[in-house]
Amino acid sequence: MSGVNEIRKTFLDYFATEGHAPVASGPLVPRNDPTLMFTSAGMVQFKTLFTGVEKRAYATATTAQKCLRAGGKHNDLDNVGYTARHLTFFEMLGNFSFGDYFKERAIELAWNLVTKHFDIPASRLLVTVYIDDDEAADLWKKIAGFSDRRIIRIASSDNFWAAGETGPCGPCSELFFDQGESVFGGPPGSADEDGDRFLEFWNLVFMQYDQIAPGDRRDLPRPSIDTGMGLERMSALLQGVQSVFETDLFRALIRASVEASGVPAEGAALASHRVIADHLRASSFLVAEGVLPGNEGRGYVLRRIMRRAMRHAQLIGAKEPLMHRLVPARARDGRRLP
Ligand code: SER
Repeated sequence: MSGVNEIRKTFLDYFATEGHAPVASGPLVPRNDPTLMFTSAGMVQFKTLFTGVEKRAYATATTAQKCLRAGGKHNDLDNVGYTARHLTFFEMLGNFSFGDYFKERAIELAWNLVTKHFDIPASRLLVTVYIDDDEAADLWKKIAGFSDRRIIRIASSDNFWAAGETGPCGPCSELFFDQGESVFGGPPGSADEDGDRFLEFWNLVFMQYDQIAPGDRRDLPRPSIDTGMGLERMSALLQGVQSVFETDLFRALIRASVEASGVPAEGAALASHRVIADHLRASSFLVAEGVLPGNEGRGYVLRRIMRRAMRHAQLIGAKEPLMHRLVPARARDGRRLP
C-alpha cells in the first residue's frame, strides 16, 4: 500500500462510510483543559462528549489528530531517534462512539479495516485484552476466529488508558503485528516485549469510567469507544519497513536534512537526522499554534525539543543554523508533505 496520505484517507473514508462524522483535528494545545499540556491522543477534543456534559449532532466520529508526546504524562522525547517507532509529534487516527456502539462493533470495525481494507494477513496479528475482560476476549474469538493463544491478557496499566490523572478512561484491547522472527522481541507481556518484533499499532479503548479525582472513579453515562492508531506506525507496517523513519513521509524530511547539511544519513549521523526530522515537525506545529520557546510550561518543552534538534545538527557538523531551512521541505515529486 501506498503513501501516508492514502493510508490516512483509507482510514477516514472507511469510518465515514460506516456512518462516522469526519471531524477535523483539534489543536495541539488543548482549549479549556488545564489537566493537559498538549493533546496526546484523539480523544482529548471529545472529553466532554464522553462525560455527557456536551452533546453534538453526531454520536460517532473519526479523526486524524495531531498529537504531541513530550512533557506531561506521555513523554517520548528521549527515545526519539534511537527506537524504530517513537516520535514526539505524530498523527493518531481514531474512531469514536459517544454512547453509541461499544465493544462488539468496535472490534468488528477494526477487524474489517485491518484485514479487508489494509489487507493485513490475520496470521500476523495478535491482540491484548485487560486481564479480566472475558467479554472482549470472547468477541475476538467470535469475530476474528482467534484462539486463546492469540489473545493475551495484560494486567498492567499498559492495558488501561487515561489521558491524564483525571477524565474519561477504560480498559483497552491493543492490536499487534508480528514482524517475524528476523526482528528481535517477544509478544506483549513477555520479558522481551520492548523489542520491535511485535508492533502495537492500534489501541481500542472501552471507555467506561470518569476519573474524577484519585480514588474517585465513576461510570460514564454510557459506555463509549475511543480508538487510536499511529498513522506513522501503520504506514511503516503497510510499506514493509521496520521503522517509522523509513516511511515516505520521513524519507522526504531526512533527505532534506541530508541535502541541507551535506552529511549522509549513515552511521552515527542516522539517529541525528531522525531526531532532526521528528523535532522539526513538533517544533513547526507548536510554533504554528503560537507556542514560543520559553522557560516554563509549554514554551519550555518546545525549547527542549528545539535545543535537542540543534544539538544533533551540531553533532553531525552543520556549521550554519539548519532547522529553519527544512521547514519548506517537500516530497521529491513536489507534493507538500502530509
Ligand atoms: N486514547 C487511546 C490512546 O491514545 C486510544 O485512542 O492510545
